[in-house]
Amino acid sequence: MKELLELKGITAGYEQTVVLRDVNLAIHAHDFIGIIGPNGGGKTTLLKVILGLLKPFSGEIVYHVSKQSLFGYLPQNSRFDARFPISVKEVVLSGLMSEKGIFKAYTKVDRKRVEEILEVYGMSDYKNRPIGELSGGQMQRVFLCRAIISSPKILILDEPSTYVDANFEMEFYSLLKELNEKMSIVMVSHDLGTICSYVKTIACVNGGLHYHESNLITPEQLKLYNCPIELISHGTVPHRVLLEHDETIENKRIQ
Ligand SMILES: Nc1ncnc2c1ncn2[C@@H]1O[C@H](COP(=O)(O)OP(=O)(O)OP(=O)(O)O)[C@@H](O)[C@H]1O
Ligand SMILES: [Mg+2]
Repeated sequence: MKELLELKGITAGYEQTVVLRDVNLAIHAHDFIGIIGPNGGGKTTLLKVILGLLKPFSGEIVYHVSKQSLFGYLPQNSRFDARFPISVKEVVLSGLMSEKGIFKAYTKVDRKRVEEILEVYGMSDYKNRPIGELSGGQMQRVFLCRAIISSPKILILDEPSTYVDANFEMEFYSLLKELNEKMSIVMVSHDLGTICSYVKTIACVNGGLHYHESNLITPEQLKLYNCPIELISHGTVPHRVLLEHDETIENKRIQ
């Protein structure tokens, strides 16, 4: 499978604190990588490095394709204040910004793309509403529309199902499966049951990265990586149990 980008020996963090050490990861076309790990383990930090939003202390990112429309990003806890004066349509339209550049005006075609995508995701009725007036789950759908409107090569999702209800969650993951035919997906989730049903490979992130070439990992492997999650095999459908988080692990800093 065609390689899109590669992280090579990345060490990254904030000011004096190293959060990720010596991370190697390749993202290929049609990958669906689930990222798991404890709170504070560095998952969001890893996504920021991949997206080029956080410059690593050392290591390199090698791009094998053009950076044009490379990423679509759905950040963790994306919320807007109710007073934020921007409509749902405008939020989705802003997903085309990197493709067009800041100073180019949006065209009729762009606006049509927005209408179409909002229709597909059941948000047409809300298109003129201020984004801040939407519920968490509705906002999440709008942010997904924003992330995919530019047809990115890699869709990056940070805990996308936080506000999504059980009904939409199923629909949401089957939408992701469809999108995965066109783009690679890197998704952080604590919902390992869901992860195992949809992703193709798993990366455990906890101060470093451990990559599994399959969507099934054993409890021993998770334990080794201090992931506070236990897998129970239940026929062909994996189920999960969340274990107590270990404070010493959660608060650990790698010096
Ligand atoms: N902007 C920042 N400045 C300084 N430290 C930060 C910053 N962002 C994150 N950190 C720290 O880096 C560590 C890793 O944070 P990160 O957000 O990557 O974890 P995470 O794995 O995404 O956790 P969660 O599951 O809670 O989302 C944490 O200890 C966090 O406090
Ligand atoms: Mg995070």
